[in-house]
Amino acid sequence: MKVLFVCLGNICRSPMAEGILRQRAIDRGIDLEIDSSGTGDYHIGESPDHRAMTAMVKNGLDISDLRARQFSLRDFDLFDKIFVMDHSNYRNVLKLAKSEGDRSKVELFLNLAYPGENREVPDPYFGGDQGFQSVHDMLLAATDAFLDSIDGQEG
Ligand code: 4NP
Repeated sequence: MKVLFVCLGNICRSPMAEGILRQRAIDRGIDLEIDSSGTGDYHIGESPDHRAMTAMVKNGLDISDLRARQFSLRDFDLFDKIFVMDHSNYRNVLKLAKSEGDRSKVELFLNLAYPGENREVPDPYFGGDQGFQSVHDMLLAATDAFLDSIDGQEG
């Protein structure tokens, strides 16, 4: 299965989600391809935000090798699941969808942990460091719920 995370800048939330799912999938022996992207083009080619990297290191994960890229139409063909962080990401990705098949791949990531509640992972970019730990914890809860839902289906 191929999983893409999407946020706005691809320097905070979605690279954190990518790093968390990468490690948890390895820990559980679940074979996934994972990437992340942003709907915006402001940070293309950049490393994750230093506060995101610091929060991840505190939780034992290194995402310093990731580089930001923009979400593209091709991603609908390349990925099976497209997990977005907030309602704005959801609208912006759905605007590019060409078919019901495309649309059906897109889901708010926190709905994995809190089905039907349409909760958002808040944008931590303009907040303080504490926001990043709380984003990490939300992403971890949704990651584990996602892996529980596919465990046994993937090799
Ligand atoms: P992200 O956070 O979408 O979680 O990567 C943001 C990063 C940059 C900006 C906004 C949100 N920005 O406006 O540059």
